[in-house]
Amino acid sequence: MTDCRLPLAAMTIDSDIMFETALGLRADAVEAQLRLLLDERVLPSEIVRPAHLMAAMRHGALNGGKRLRPFLVLESAALFDGDGEAALRIATALECVHCYSLIHDDLPAMDDDDMRRGQPTVHKAFDEATAILAGDGLLTYAFDLIADEATPLPAERRAALVLALARAAGPGGMVGGQALDLDAERNKPDEAGIIRLQAMKTGALIRFACEAGAIIADAPAADRDRLAEFGSAIGLAFQLADDLLDLTADAKTMGKATGKDDAAGKATLVSLHGPEWARAQLDGLVTQAHELLEPFGERAIMLKAAASFVASRNS
Ligand code: IPE
Ligand code: IPE
Ligand code: MG
Ligand code: MG
Ligand code: MG
Repeated sequence: MTDCRLPLAAMTIDSDIMFETALGLRADAVEAQLRLLLDERVLPSEIVRPAHLMAAMRHGALNGGKRLRPFLVLESAALFDGDGEAALRIATALECVHCYSLIHDDLPAMDDDDMRRGQPTVHKAFDEATAILAGDGLLTYAFDLIADEATPLPAERRAALVLALARAAGPGGMVGGQALDLDAERNKPDEAGIIRLQAMKTGALIRFACEAGAIIADAPAADRDRLAEFGSAIGLAFQLADDLLDLTADAKTMGKATGKDDAAGKATLVSLHGPEWARAQLDGLVTQAHELLEPFGERAIMLKAAASFVASRNS
C-alpha cells in the first residue's frame, strides 16, 4: 500500500513556499495602498502637500522592504476573522511608522547610512532637512490613517489602535530604544540591558503588529496578550537576526551597509556572546513563539511560518 503522507522535509518546503507567496502578495497590497495614499491630493482640511516632501516620503516608503510588520498585522487579524479592509489600513499605518524610523535611523546624526533597501537613503537622494520632514510626515500620517473614519472600525477600536501604536512607537518604545541604542555605543549595557533596548527599538513595533490583529477583531484579552507575547518573542529574534546578518551578510544582499555594529563598537547580543550562541538563542525563541500559537492550531500556520522566517531570513 502506498504511504500518502508527505515526508517532513517536503512539508517544511511547502509551508516555506506558501509563506513566501503570502508575504509577497501581502507586500503588493501594502505597496499599492501606500502608493495610493502618498500622493499629492489633499485630504479634507489639509492645505497643500508639497511635491518635494511627498516625493521624499514615497522614496522612503515605496519600492522595497520585506513588509513583515504589515504581514503580521494582516495575519493576526485574519486569525480572529478581523475586517480585512481595516487590517490593511492599520498594516499600512504601521509600515509608515517603520519607514519613518528607518529614514531617521539612517541620518548622519544617527547611523549615518547611505544605502537602504538597495537605493540611496532619503537624506542622500534628497537632503537632510527633507529626510527629517519626510520621517515626520510618515509618522503623523500613520495616526491619520488609523483615526480616519475611512478605517471601517468602531471609534473605540480606532482609538485603542492609536494608543497602542503611540505607546509602541514613542519614548517608552521604539524611540526610547533608539535613544538607549545610541547610548550603548558609549556605556556598554549588560545582557539584560541589551535585551531591554532591543525589545524597545525593534520589538515594540513587531509586538504591536501581532497585537493589532486582536484589537482590530476585538478578540478576548487573553488572546490579545498571547499575540503580544508572540510578537515580543519574534521581535527579539528579529533584532538578533539583524545583528547576526550585520556580522555575516554582504551589503548587496542586505540592500544596506553591513559590518557597522562591530565598527561602531555597538553592544549587541552577538558581540557579547558570539554568533553560535545567537543562533541557538534564535532557535529557542522560534520554539517559544510556536508554542504560544499552539492553542490556535492550523489557523496560525502563517504566523508560525513568519516566526521561522524571522530567524532564518538572509536579508
Ligand atoms: C530593519 O527592519 C530595521 C530593524 C528593525 C532591524 P527590516 O529588516 O524589516 O527592514 P525592511 O523593512 O525589510 O527594509
Ligand atoms: C534600527 O536598528 C531599528 C530602528 C530603525 C528602530 P538598526 O540600526 O540595527 O537597523 P538597520 O541595521 O540600520 O536596518
Ligand atoms: Mg540604528
Ligand atoms: Mg541602522
Ligand atoms: Mg542593524
